[in-house]
Amino acid sequence: MEPKKVTAPDIKDRKKSGGKITMLTAYDYPTALLVDRAGIDMILVGDSLGMVVLGYKDTVSVTMDEMVHHVKSVSSAVQRALVVGDMPFGSYNVSVEKAVENANRMMKEARADGIKLEGGKQMARIAEAIVNAGIPVQGHIGLTPQTASSLGGFKVQGKSFEAAMALIEDARALEDAGCFSIVLEAIPSPIAKMVTEAISIPTIGIGAGIDCDGQVLVIHDLIGLFERFTPKFVKQYAKISDVIFSAVSQYKSDVENLKFPEEKHSFSMNPKELEKLKSKKKIRPVKKG
Ligand code: KIV
Repeated sequence: MEPKKVTAPDIKDRKKSGGKITMLTAYDYPTALLVDRAGIDMILVGDSLGMVVLGYKDTVSVTMDEMVHHVKSVSSAVQRALVVGDMPFGSYNVSVEKAVENANRMMKEARADGIKLEGGKQMARIAEAIVNAGIPVQGHIGLTPQTASSLGGFKVQGKSFEAAMALIEDARALEDAGCFSIVLEAIPSPIAKMVTEAISIPTIGIGAGIDCDGQVLVIHDLIGLFERFTPKFVKQYAKISDVIFSAVSQYKSDVENLKFPEEKHSFSMNPKELEKLKSKKKIRPVKKG
């Protein structure tokens, strides 16, 4: 029997019913199968795709077409988790019409269950229009990687009184816009706790401490597959890059030393047919050298 699909209202209700919400990124079919099988509540096809999968220096150049391509592969794997498609830079911050059009693509072409966009008060109007189009929207405030340069780089946000107040206002504006949850990235734990207590929709933290209603991580960080850097807030549960490197090195050595393929990896044929072939002059082996 197929498991019951998690919905945006289910996620919203978890704030009342308690129990932490789990969210992880995935960008392809096999990874999404595993994440879903492990019972993670939400799968984010983040625009972190650009950095951890496509090798870009940041998330800014990720396109809508690239996102749709990857969200499609994730949504075809998932039975239970809520699939959130991340809106890339330039796909929603242009106009309300463009934002709704691209959010529709995420649902219709990529078969996401909802979208995520970055920004607080200034994006509330856009978030509201997408919600009014019938699409669940997840907000994202604090460190917003798409606009990191205007925040002064990849820095912890909300450290001053004014900045913390602005975060609370941002969260309230997104709640009023109809968002079903908000990602809080890289903000001090006491501020994340205040934001979490100030709103009635769940907060999903990444580098925002234990008091958020749920947690999200980039899967490549969690499994140790992205070697360029690991943020302080990541807990690495495995070092998959070592496993892959060792397997690939062993394969290279086996091929070079005639240890692969073995008999069990090869196909045999009827010996009589083989003899007939060998006796044919035309297909005698070419002399080497
Ligand atoms: O793109 C992404 O993976 C994200 C998470 C860091 C929340 O936005």
